[in-house]
Amino acid sequence: DWTSAHFINETVDAIKETIGDKKVIMALSGGVDSTVAATLIHKAIGKNLYGIFVDNGVLRKDEFQQVLDSCNSIGLNIKGVDAKDHFYTKLAGKVSPEEKRKIIGKCFIEIFDEEAHKIEGIEFLGQGTIYPDVIESMSVHGPSQTIKSHHNVGGLPDYMKLKLVEPLRSLFKDEVRKVGAELGLPAALLNRHPFPGPGLAIRILGEVTEEKVQLLQQADAIYTKALLKFDLYATVWQAGAILLPVKSVGVMGDERTYEFTVALRAVTSVDGMTADWAHLPYEFLAYVSNEIINNVKGINRVVYDISSKPPATIEWE
Ligand code: XMP
Repeated sequence: DWTSAHFINETVDAIKETIGDKKVIMALSGGVDSTVAATLIHKAIGKNLYGIFVDNGVLRKDEFQQVLDSCNSIGLNIKGVDAKDHFYTKLAGKVSPEEKRKIIGKCFIEIFDEEAHKIEGIEFLGQGTIYPDVIESMSVHGPSQTIKSHHNVGGLPDYMKLKLVEPLRSLFKDEVRKVGAELGLPAALLNRHPFPGPGLAIRILGEVTEEKVQLLQQADAIYTKALLKFDLYATVWQAGAILLPVKSVGVMGDERTYEFTVALRAVTSVDGMTADWAHLPYEFLAYVSNEIINNVKGINRVVYDISSKPPATIEWE
């Protein structure tokens, strides 16, 4: 019988056995999988796990500090790397969704590689790969996978020659959450919605600039906070705000405004492959719209996305 306690004991022993007194480097994303994987590896080898968390400039508001704080609170040896400018410079002028993804993947590898070279004698790379990722990467040439390139699996440049440590490779998401709970990780982390690797960059349609990121971060934070306040967060599979490259006329006091539009997206789903738009209450939508328009200077219009997948995707890019 599978129990999380049993899984943890066996896995920690196996990691100790494999790694011994060697060093492991690992990129943290703040998500469930990488945090649970890192916690298991940390339990096995302590300070010999070197965690790296990169600020790619397209994280959610305050996410960089929150992830560092929560890793520190569980004793993980983690280094935060502020690489915002590097990402913004490379993203400047780029509008194609696929090109933006590729740039972010490439920048990430560059920064991670640079950090890895600063640590003597690293032999292993830790990853939060779970069973569905394994399946997906095996069918990478299938038609559905060529629609959008995901960068979560196989992100290892072959010149890095590190051996992989993937303690969650056999688990489904709900099992990862159970293991995380057994390890004492906070419920807020374990129940977090999925968030794409390219982050807010694929929720800013067209060119990504620091100014647009700051606008979207504010709107997105208001939206997330409201979902929690209205007890709706757990009822949707994923939610996020999208900054459209559309300005429209509005009125504020006796001033005319000409500002950006934000689209709100929330979906129900089982695995993200198909999804229905979430039928959120009108009172909730009214509240969020007011909060965003009254508090985010630069946004004067909020719309709600009522498209299902397929044919629409969850993300807009
Ligand atoms: P779509 O937009 O394809 O999204 O319906 C399905 C799920 O995948 C996430 N997603 C990504 N995750 N890198 C990621 O790590 C990506 O490039 C990427 N694109 C989409 C999306 O957030 C949703 O959960």
